[in-house]
Amino acid sequence: MKSAIITTPVGDLETPLLAVIVPSGTTVPASLAGLDRATGGILARAITSGDFKGKRDEAQLLYPAAGKIQRLLLVGVGKSADVTRTGLRRAAAVAAKRARQLGAKTVALFAAAEARNGVKPKDWGQVAVEGAAHGAWIFADMKQATEEPRVDVEAVDVVVDPKEAKEAETGRRTGEAIAAGARYTRRLQMLPGNICTPSYLADQAAAVAKKHGFGVTVLDLAAIKKEGMGALLAVAQGSVQEPRFIALEYKGGGDAAPVVLVGKGVTFDSGGISIKPAQNMEDMKFDMSGAAAVLGTFETLGMLKPRINVIGLIPSTENLPSGTAIKPGDVVKSHLGKTIEIVNTDAEGRLILCDALSWARRYKPAAVLDAATLTGAVSIALGKEAIGLMGTDEALMTEIRDAGDRAGERCWPLPLWEEYRELVKSDIADVRNSGGRGAGTIAGGWFLREFVEGFPWAHLDIAGTAYTDSEGPHQVKGPTAIGVRLFTEFLLRRAAA
Ligand code: BES
Ligand code: MN
Ligand code: ZN
Repeated sequence: MKSAIITTPVGDLETPLLAVIVPSGTTVPASLAGLDRATGGILARAITSGDFKGKRDEAQLLYPAAGKIQRLLLVGVGKSADVTRTGLRRAAAVAAKRARQLGAKTVALFAAAEARNGVKPKDWGQVAVEGAAHGAWIFADMKQATEEPRVDVEAVDVVVDPKEAKEAETGRRTGEAIAAGARYTRRLQMLPGNICTPSYLADQAAAVAKKHGFGVTVLDLAAIKKEGMGALLAVAQGSVQEPRFIALEYKGGGDAAPVVLVGKGVTFDSGGISIKPAQNMEDMKFDMSGAAAVLGTFETLGMLKPRINVIGLIPSTENLPSGTAIKPGDVVKSHLGKTIEIVNTDAEGRLILCDALSWARRYKPAAVLDAATLTGAVSIALGKEAIGLMGTDEALMTEIRDAGDRAGERCWPLPLWEEYRELVKSDIADVRNSGGRGAGTIAGGWFLREFVEGFPWAHLDIAGTAYTDSEGPHQVKGPTAIGVRLFTEFLLRRAAA
């Protein structure tokens, strides 16, 4: 999707579709008076009648009888005083989703000043493009023929005041890079397990590296064995598909210590011998969402080239049952040297991540952030609305929560108190990979923490947020690209510091 900042007065626009973001209320916002005149008073009729209330996610399509705007879409954003970047991003997504459904190739996006609540032109330019790209996204590459001829939204024009254009353009460029990263992530998430295998992910990483001039290292089965990544190997041993360990390297920050991003890359999680129920098991193709978020973030980094060093680590494998698969009770030796009793083969994410965490030591990282669809329990605790956040460093966790708030990918902390360490104690080995029924997300966090040595670390459990099984007003069901915006916000702020 192309994007542009335009400064044509909104009433003078000539467009197939103008989406206007409007706060709640029964009077026409002063900043829309000109547009109301240009469209023959259609706005006033919709708003003062109370038919359009301006509620969050509300959308009302109007056909002006006069002027050059063919269709006018009013999109509600709720109470003016409560509007944030996140609210505007979402309204832009609602607008773009409707635009796609209407078959509009171009959508112009305008937010009434009263709907912006002081959100800066730069931020508006960014979130307008992020949101529009998110809302317009659809995956139809694997359908031979769709029911109706499909039109993609090819361009979004963000309409601003000439005084705001320069700042908005800066934001637009960031938004476009984030949108490109997110689109890339979502596609990878969506691809089924028979296509998106560990070696496919490695090829993708190599392609991203080539495109942007990043360093890339891919360890194959033999190299993973040689490195002693026994936990990753244990998960991989049940599958015919070979595992891969991927390391991407972006250098924009001289010789400063890098931020390391680690993404869980289980390309299909059947549970292994501790097999999952058949219901919804197909969703376990999304178990590489953390890996996809890391790759998408590198796509964004390649476009923005911020002054920071970033390493991306992706341990990738399938988790399948077979005659060669690991069994409950098996004990394996991790890359760090700690022994692990595998009491549940379905707690495989932490096994592959722990080897990546100990590998990360070699970079002497400023911080390590991992993103993983690690536990079903995180959706029980937080639903779809928040990422479960755990870590060893309060300041880092605050920084991540701030980034998540800006990104509209909110995190909520869970405690890693010493008492919870009991959950991962084993009778036979240094640790066990599952702690039973209670505090499942924290047990996952504690297991990872056992492998964190010498750097500030935070763990993002994205199992509840990586994909949705219901259609929303702002997005189709399926993958969300969670993590790309948060990681990028985090890195950009660090790069600017
Ligand atoms: N990939 C799953 C977690 C998951 C569940 C992601 C549902 C998305 C939706 C993970 O590997 C897993 O199976 N976790 C187990 C851990 C348990 C065995 C300790 C779980 O959540 O049941
Ligand atoms: Mn599992
Ligand atoms: Zn898993």
